[in-house]
Order: sequence, then structure tokens, then C-alpha cells
Amino acid sequence: MTIRICLAGATGWAGSALALAAAKTNDITLVSAISRTHAGKILGDVLPEPLLTCPIYASAQEALDQQPCDVFFEFTNPDVAKANVLAALQHGAHVVIGTSGLTDADFAEIETAALERQLGVLAVGNFAITVVLLQKFSEMAARYIPQWEIIDYAHDNKKDAPSGTARELAHRLSTVRPSELTVPLEQTQGLVETRGARLAGSQVHSIRLPGYTISAEIIFGMPDQKLTIRHDSGSSAAPYVDGALLSIRKVSSFTGLRRGLDQVLDL
Ligand SMILES: NC(=O)c1ccc[n+]([C@@H]2O[C@H](COP(=O)([O-])OP(=O)(O)OC[C@H]3O[C@@H](n4cnc5c(N)ncnc54)[C@H](OP(=O)(O)O)[C@@H]3O)[C@@H](O)[C@H]2O)c1
Repeated sequence: MTIRICLAGATGWAGSALALAAAKTNDITLVSAISRTHAGKILGDVLPEPLLTCPIYASAQEALDQQPCDVFFEFTNPDVAKANVLAALQHGAHVVIGTSGLTDADFAEIETAALERQLGVLAVGNFAITVVLLQKFSEMAARYIPQWEIIDYAHDNKKDAPSGTARELAHRLSTVRPSELTVPLEQTQGLVETRGARLAGSQVHSIRLPGYTISAEIIFGMPDQKLTIRHDSGSSAAPYVDGALLSIRKVSSFTGLRRGLDQVLDL
């Protein structure tokens, strides 16, 4: 029996890489895809893979009404992501969230809906294995080093800030402790905004410039010593594919919300 997927964002940069990889598996079948510009077509007419025979719909509601699925995969944009996820849960599907930009409040609402329906939601700010390790190593470091700041780098046309990777990292570190500040933010002389945003107990700085793809860096500082842990991704969506496929296979194994790929890995 294969896992039936509705892939929201199947024609996008990340979604198309996932769709092409899913077509090569024998346990995952795309039953519907979502894209406004290609609605009404077959996915294999848009992507170079004749095995992708599922229809494309303009909205999640339409796709979910027309084609039952086991897992809804969200890879669109932050404006519609939460509504898509809630609609999928209403339709009885487990959900994997790859889209960035959802807030902790959004996740709290999603968790409540998932628990009500006894479904699993796996939200992964970054499916790349190097990011999973960055998160793990950072959690270890935060147990020993009380001060750190996070820097998130992305291309200039990325609209959401901070990145999903930075949000997830801050969230994870909040379960260890908040980062200490030697000078409290309100005592900053000059422009307090230049100290970044306080997010779940971490200072976060987002850089948006041409020339970057996606990078995340965390700097831990102690008197006379520093530790920097950094992830850089290249220009293809390849780093995300394996983690996304694994998430699809694992999301039905629990109920409620889990954040981070390591939640379904044996690390
Ligand atoms: N978690 C991770 O590891 C990871 C990795 C890569 C990207 N991401 C995140 O995934 C999201 C997508 O990134 P991307 O680079 O693939 O974006 P993209 O290339 O712009 O693709 C977006 C896709 O979503 C569809 N879409 C957008 N708005 C829609 C709407 N209102 N209704 C229906 N379909 C809609 C687009 O099709 P139409 O325009 O035709 O509607 C397209 O198929 C972003 O939030 C990004 O940050 C996460």
C-alpha cells in the first residue's frame, strides 16, 4: 500500500524536486498537486516526469475535496500555509509542513487541531541533514554556554523573516534555556533594533541580500572564546528531498505536533 500525498506547491522550487523524487519511490504516490498558475493541468505536463499523472488544483480546499490523501505536504508560502494545514487536518490527513514563516502562535493552533483529530503534524524548518546536526550541536552547546546569537542569511527576495530554520533553532534552544544578555536590551544606547529581534529567548538577525541562498549561523560566546556553527546550502533543492520523503513516511507514526526532522530520526 502506498502513501497518498497531496503536494501543495508541487510546481515550485522545493515542491518540484520533491514531486520528481516521489515519482521514483514505490511507496509514495502523488494523488493531487496545488498551484494556481497550472490548475487544471496534469503534473506530468508541467514537470519532466510522465509518471506524475495527478491533477493540479488551484487551492488546498479543492484538492482535498476532490482527492482523498493520507498526507498533505505544505510547500507554498506563509500567507496560505496555516489555512491549508487546518483544512488538511479537517479532511483527516496527516501533515508535513515545509513552508517557513509560521509563528509559535500558529503552531499552537495547529497542534490543538491535530490533537482534536488524533493526527500527526511534522513541521520542519529545514529538511537538510546539516541543519538537523546544527540544531543538535547547538542544543549541546547551549547546555554549557549561556550566551549566543543567531544569524539567518537568505536571498534578497525571501519575504519572510526570520527563516523557518532560525525560528526552529530559537524554539529548540528555548527548551534548554534563554540566552543571557550582559546588557539588557532596554539599556541599549542608540538603536535597539540593531541588536536583532528577541525570539523565544534568542537574539536573531536576518540578512537578505543578493548572492545568498540559505545559510544559518549560531555564535556562542564566552570570555575569550567563541564557537561558531554554520550551515550553508547551495542553489539546488536537493538537500531537502531525502528529509522530506522521510517526513512523509514518518508523520503518521505519532499524534499532535512535532517540530524538527530529528524528532523522527534516531540521533
Ligand atoms: N523546510 C525546508 O527545508 C524548506 C526548503 C525549501 C523551501 N522551504 C520553504 O518552502 C516554501 C516554498 O518555497 P519555494 O522556494 O519552493 O517557493 P516557490 O518556488 O515560490 O514555489 C511555491 C509553490 O507554491 C505554489 N503557491 C504559492 N502560493 C500559492 C497559493 N496561494 N495557492 C496555491 N499555490 C500556491 C506555487 O504555485 P503558483 O504560484 O502557481 O500558485 C508554487 O508551486 C517557502 O516557504 C520556503 O521558505 C522550506
